[in-house]
Amino acid sequence: MSRRDIDLEQVGSSLVGPLANEMERNAEVSLRPTTLREFVGQRELVRHLEIVLGSARARHQTADHLLFAGPPGLGKTSLASIVASEMGSGIRITSGPVLSRPGDLAALLTDLQDGDVLFIDEIHRLSRALEEVLYPALEDRRLDVLIGRGPSARSIRLDLPNFTLVGATTRTGLVAAPLRDRFGFIGQLDLYDVDELSIIVARSAHLLGVELHEDAALIIASRSRGTPRIANRLLRRVRDVAAVEGHPSVDADIAVQALELFGVDNYGLDKIDRRILQLLCDQFSRQPVGLTTMAHACGEEPATIEDAYEPFLLREGLLIRTPRGRIATEKAYQHMGIVPRGGGLA
Ligand SMILES: Nc1ncnc2c1ncn2[C@@H]1O[C@H](COP(=O)(O)OP(=O)(O)OP(=O)(O)O)[C@@H](O)[C@H]1O
Ligand SMILES: [Mg+2]
Repeated sequence: MSRRDIDLEQVGSSLVGPLANEMERNAEVSLRPTTLREFVGQRELVRHLEIVLGSARARHQTADHLLFAGPPGLGKTSLASIVASEMGSGIRITSGPVLSRPGDLAALLTDLQDGDVLFIDEIHRLSRALEEVLYPALEDRRLDVLIGRGPSARSIRLDLPNFTLVGATTRTGLVAAPLRDRFGFIGQLDLYDVDELSIIVARSAHLLGVELHEDAALIIASRSRGTPRIANRLLRRVRDVAAVEGHPSVDADIAVQALELFGVDNYGLDKIDRRILQLLCDQFSRQPVGLTTMAHACGEEPATIEDAYEPFLLREGLLIRTPRGRIATEKAYQHMGIVPRGGGLA
């Protein structure tokens, strides 16, 4: 592989946005923690989950239905499979956008084995009709199926096995309130701190067989925007550069060099973050900018901007949200090296 190959691999795929391709997805699966002990960070959530799962195990019952919420790449899917493995049960995986007809969900539910985990990713995207199927299934473990049409239609009731629904969403606010209320536990995942990300990067390096110096792990962690998925992606890109340059191990110099090559700055901002800040600081200097305008200018979906980019920019105090739109802060102007027109900054 040459430097040119690495560059080409990244063309059109940001390091922050949704998974670019099959290879990325496979790489991710191989790095997933499989037990709660292996799951780094989110200490309070993990402690609560240990109690919920431990109590269910002690009662020889399935765990309550669980909802995990938080920005992309923080470990919601990992937690869903951890729940299944901690409970010693099977897992069936689907997602809100994939399930289109109530029959699809009914087929899945009736096919569950006793004690299974049913994981519904992006659960906020379930249609109202599917939510209606889910309510009695969650509450009374029954499924009402309508047979036939018109006056001869009749409803039959099917009993379902014990199961735990695990839902994942990027924002709890998007989950319909009646559905949200049916979860016994809602775990909110927050962005990780640099120490936690360093541990994750070191663990992933070990799994990938990469010799990574401690200071290089810290550099990758500090540019990962609080997100394990990004930390793992950056680690793989850094590893690529080290391989091309013929370095048997990854030290701080190689890490910095590689991250610069991929356009990740010392804050961990990538080209889309910088395009957002450029837009707010330069083109729309001090005027609030709407989400759709921002997304159009960056060539991304509004939901991707809102879920994947904004949480970090907000946490770092680089932009603020006002009822009229987004505004860059003084810190953003400084970071971008742009002198505001007129003064009077946010
Ligand atoms: N706490 C953690 N410890 C170690 N690795 C983690 C942790 N959380 C996430 N990861 C790593 O980050 C990657 C992404 O995690 P995961 O797919 O579970 O995120 P997600 O919240 O489901 O994202 P999305 O919203 O995009 O579906 C995983 O491959 C895993 O290796
Ligand atoms: Mg996921």
